[in-house]
Amino acid sequence: MLRKIRLGLIFGGRSAEHEVSLRSARSVLQAINRDKYDMTLIGISKEGKWLAGPDPMAALAAGSGDAASRQAAASEAMLSAEPGKRELLAVTANGSGHSVKLSAIAELDVIFPLLHGPFGEDGTMQGLLELADLPYVGSGVLASALAMDKAMCKHVLRAAGVRVTDWLVVTRAEIERDVDAVAAVAAGRFSFPIFTKPANLGSSVGVVKAHDFGELVAGLRESARYDRRVLVEPGISAREIEVSVLGNASPLASAVGEVVPSREFYDYEAKYVDEGSRLIIPALIPADTAQLARTAAVAAFQAIDAAGLARVDFLLDRETDELYLNEINTLPGFTDISMYPKLWEAAGLSYPDLIDRLVALALERQVEKDKNVTLFQGARSA
Ligand SMILES: Nc1ncnc2c1ncn2[C@@H]1O[C@H](COP(=O)(O)OP(=O)(O)O)[C@@H](O)[C@H]1O
Ligand SMILES: [Mg+2]
Repeated sequence: MLRKIRLGLIFGGRSAEHEVSLRSARSVLQAINRDKYDMTLIGISKEGKWLAGPDPMAALAAGSGDAASRQAAASEAMLSAEPGKRELLAVTANGSGHSVKLSAIAELDVIFPLLHGPFGEDGTMQGLLELADLPYVGSGVLASALAMDKAMCKHVLRAAGVRVTDWLVVTRAEIERDVDAVAAVAAGRFSFPIFTKPANLGSSVGVVKAHDFGELVAGLRESARYDRRVLVEPGISAREIEVSVLGNASPLASAVGEVVPSREFYDYEAKYVDEGSRLIIPALIPADTAQLARTAAVAAFQAIDAAGLARVDFLLDRETDELYLNEINTLPGFTDISMYPKLWEAAGLSYPDLIDRLVALALERQVEKDKNVTLFQGARSA
């Protein structure tokens, strides 16, 4: 029999989506086929501390305030950025001095960085894994960073012929200097309602729907709390349509789902606090609109050079029936009841099989990467 795949599951992290990540990780742990995988759990605290065995999930739940429980449940850990090691290291204090001792905890074949938002989904974690030369699930550095940056992503999508809502980028410095002037420019360009959002974030944190000039001023200030760059967009009266994409070089699009938010828009409360938001699979939209969404989802995935998985979210204008790509999530919510896996389940791919497929895609990508000639192997002599 083939030996088990040694899978490192990373969860938690420094973003506002820490808890969402824990939920996704619990689902994966429950569903994953233990006959195929040796699991190593790696929890990252909200402060950015890496924690490994025996129970990093419990250690994160204990929080930083409860140092004793945390220490009992997990040891500090790290990944070396050096290629070829592929080991998770335990970090322990070496006597009473300042020195530390590193010891190998586990060897890893592949990593599933199940992190959402900044410091996980945005290319930073992917950068570390690239340095370590460890295969990992999902997109690489560029696609992760592009998808996380709503402003840059729009440039690339527009160039690829994918329709996005119009936008304006303003900086925190401009907002701090003269917020009324910034609001006046935005209000001159778009009609209300107007959305403001941090360029790099997720889970609707810092996203504001402004109905008038006063709310726009407040919205600009609120969004600027979370990022140096703020996006301003015309608000569209829209249905929210989502497509799951899976694959590397020849990605497939799932059926189309619809989210019906429990509130005026799909804000943080509607996503995680209210129980009232509904997922409808398949979305009750005309077949040609659904096909347009699936085609645009794959085009967007390829335009940013995504890999493995992405959930592509659209706004379907209720008045004009125009479809706008709103955002690409390269590490979408991944609990067994999240939209991404649900859409695949509807296509006949179960949640455990989806996990297998993602790991296989990660390993396939590494094989592709290993074909690259690197300087280390010696440049061809002239
Ligand atoms: N231009 C827009 N028009 C209408 N609704 C929008 C617009 N932009 C965002 N929204 C609403 O705000 C929610 C969160 O915005 P989004 O850009 O998806 O940020 P996040 O990455 O935080 O999910 C969307 O799901 C949608 O409900
Ligand atoms: Mg969104």
